[in-house]
Amino acid sequence: MNIIIAGFGTVGQSFVQLLMSHREFLKKAYGLVIKVVAIVDSKGAAVSQRGLDLNLVMRCKREYGTVAKAASVGYEMNLLEVIRSVEADTLIEATHTNLINGEPGMTHILNALQLGLNVITVNKGPLALAMPMLKEIAEHKKLALKFSGTVGGGLPVLAFAKECAKGDRVVKVEGVLNGTTNYILTRMEDGLRFDEALVEAQEKGYAERDPTLDVSGMDTACKLVILANEVLGKRVTLRDVKVEGIAGIKPEDIKMAKGTGKTVRLIGVADESEVFVKPLIIDQSDPLAVKYTYNAITLTLENSGRHTITGKGAGGRETATAIIRDLISIKEHLLVT
Ligand SMILES: NC(=O)c1ccc[n+]([C@@H]2O[C@H](COP(=O)([O-])OP(=O)(O)OC[C@H]3O[C@@H](n4cnc5c(N)ncnc54)[C@H](OP(=O)(O)O)[C@@H]3O)[C@@H](O)[C@H]2O)c1
Repeated sequence: MNIIIAGFGTVGQSFVQLLMSHREFLKKAYGLVIKVVAIVDSKGAAVSQRGLDLNLVMRCKREYGTVAKAASVGYEMNLLEVIRSVEADTLIEATHTNLINGEPGMTHILNALQLGLNVITVNKGPLALAMPMLKEIAEHKKLALKFSGTVGGGLPVLAFAKECAKGDRVVKVEGVLNGTTNYILTRMEDGLRFDEALVEAQEKGYAERDPTLDVSGMDTACKLVILANEVLGKRVTLRDVKVEGIAGIKPEDIKMAKGTGKTVRLIGVADESEVFVKPLIIDQSDPLAVKYTYNAITLTLENSGRHTITGKGAGGRETATAIIRDLISIKEHLLVT
């Protein structure tokens, strides 16, 4: 497969490292031979139809802050120019999440689909804003649009949902989908105030310097939109989600819940009638009562009841494995060589 990577931050670089260390395994186990023909970051692009020297690209990114110095042809090109200049079959979209207009990921995905490339995105912004439309375009063009890494990082949530739903029907999805807020709520259970727990999460690298997306519940809402579309077959976007974050939670609320064998978790819920994100009081024995940065997703099936999957919901390397999973799936289903 010939691939282009848009965005070369934590996830993009982890993916390339994984590719380099697992090249032989991927070839042997899945017949997957991946050639990276271009990488684009915010300052430019490295392009080589023969395949980029990935060690060199990593070194250039480290030393010069851009990949553009790494190829015999290094340009100040944008992604559209790059797609037009090389032969590739798949775009990996790994730029930052923007919930105002989805850019630059939205344009990247649209351009790639229009020009005949399959798309794997770990960037949830474009999906949260326009998933029904993007899926329609991909279907119309008979191309793959894959997004395993957008929900649960490396946790195979979407594959789990697909497997559970064989012969049964998923009627409800509930999830602890944001590790940062879950860490804060867990530490508040240990006695910290909200602001103290947030600072600690920032110091440990779990929360961004600007934690608004996490704390407001918007990150959870984005992931819930993706689950609602993919698992429940709804046609919803971020606008359809009622969102309440965790900033208003007081230590007394947590203490009171704890005293009665319960706990507070920020949970996204989607079923036939509603889609919302809100702190909910649940039993400490509920499988959704995971601690620290863990994620958990419970699916309720019409006949077989509740099934839960849990694990580490983020991280560069974990999310990179989801990209690999999507590449394998594209190869298996679309017979890309
Ligand atoms: N990190 C995780 O654990 C995780 C887990 C799941 C999903 N995600 C999602 O995956 C995506 C990437 O995450 P990340 O942590 O790798 O983010 P990041 O470290 O902030 O990297 C973003 C990358 O996008 C590049 N970029 C910005 N504007 C661009 C443009 N116009 N054209 C091309 N590249 C551009 C940046 O370039 P420069 O390097 O030049 O600044 C940077 O390389 C995000 O949408 C995130 O929400 C992340």
